[in-house]
Amino acid sequence: EDAAGQAYFDRIIAEDSRIEPKDWMPEAYRKTLVRQISQHAHSEIIGMQPEANWITRAPSLKRKAILMAKVQDEAGHGLYLYSAAETLGTPRDVMNQQLLEGKAKYSSIFNYPARSWADMGAIGWLVDGAAIANQVPLCRASYGPYGRAMVRICKEESFHQRQGFEILLELSQGTPAQKQMAQDAVDRFYAPALMMFGPPDDDSPNSKQSMAWNIKRFSNDELRQRFVGMIAEQVKVLGLTLPDPDLRFDEETGQWIHMELDWQEFKDVISGRGPCNAQRMARRREAHENGTWVREAARAYAAKQAQKKAG
Ligand code: 3HC
Repeated sequence: EDAAGQAYFDRIIAEDSRIEPKDWMPEAYRKTLVRQISQHAHSEIIGMQPEANWITRAPSLKRKAILMAKVQDEAGHGLYLYSAAETLGTPRDVMNQQLLEGKAKYSSIFNYPARSWADMGAIGWLVDGAAIANQVPLCRASYGPYGRAMVRICKEESFHQRQGFEILLELSQGTPAQKQMAQDAVDRFYAPALMMFGPPDDDSPNSKQSMAWNIKRFSNDELRQRFVGMIAEQVKVLGLTLPDPDLRFDEETGQWIHMELDWQEFKDVISGRGPCNAQRMARRREAHENGTWVREAARAYAAKQAQKKAG
């Protein structure tokens, strides 16, 4: 059964087709997908926190409504991705428990503080912009439920990126103090946003296998330099600058060159020693505790319904 299954799987991957939940798949394929998709979902859920802190401080009702819609979208993306991961046989409670116990990774970027309103612009423009650069190729991931989840998520991310750009543009065209606030936010989020794409290719243990299985379509460095190329142009429209003296386009290689990133900082941040890791985890655990009554009520209601059905 495995030999036939392996032959089928290999053919599907060779044809660049889709593997679906009930198809045979190598255990390592299943495992790396649960790893990546659950971490992706955790990122969306933790990613709600930096922005949630600014909903009550938004400068206008319009900005408040937009930010609430964005944070609500992130929650939805998380639930979408937990559902995709569950099709691989890992229940959502198990993934959630791993997060609560500090055993699960989530995107490094959310362990940085959101210090000013302009950070809402920098997060939308840079963080959601980076997320789009990373997620568009994932729409073609070989695992069906993951690729399909990405299609809707990417559509909503475009709104997230656009509203962030608009916040920065408005501030940049405002008073000198507002322009400085926008520039300060871009200065603080630029390097951490580049590190979202993962470690350099020669230090990326999962990339080779992920690319062989058509999960990852482009390497970490390839997507990173593509993203740099996009924001290098957009930042001019904003009338701001990127905090990168080494940034330039290399005509020969057709690649964007950016400054050296601090990979020790990255390692610290993803090992729990970033500026906000403890705060983000404490908030997540507190939110989970606060939700106990909802889970108990839902279980009680479900039990009653089941009793009624049983007659
Ligand atoms: N943050 C935390 N951990 C990271 C990381 C990051 N930015 N980049 C890499 N890592 C981890 C990897 O998970 C891996 O650890 P593991 O084996 O324990 O999982 C290790 O560092 C080595 O990295 P690799 O390059 O070998 O790992 P991958 O092949 O998985 O590539 C990735 C990393 C590019 C992030 C890939 O996992 C991926 O594309 N994931 C899906 C995209 C994603 O997670 N995006 C989150 C963005 S935030 C977001 O979407 C919210 C936005 O809407 C605001």
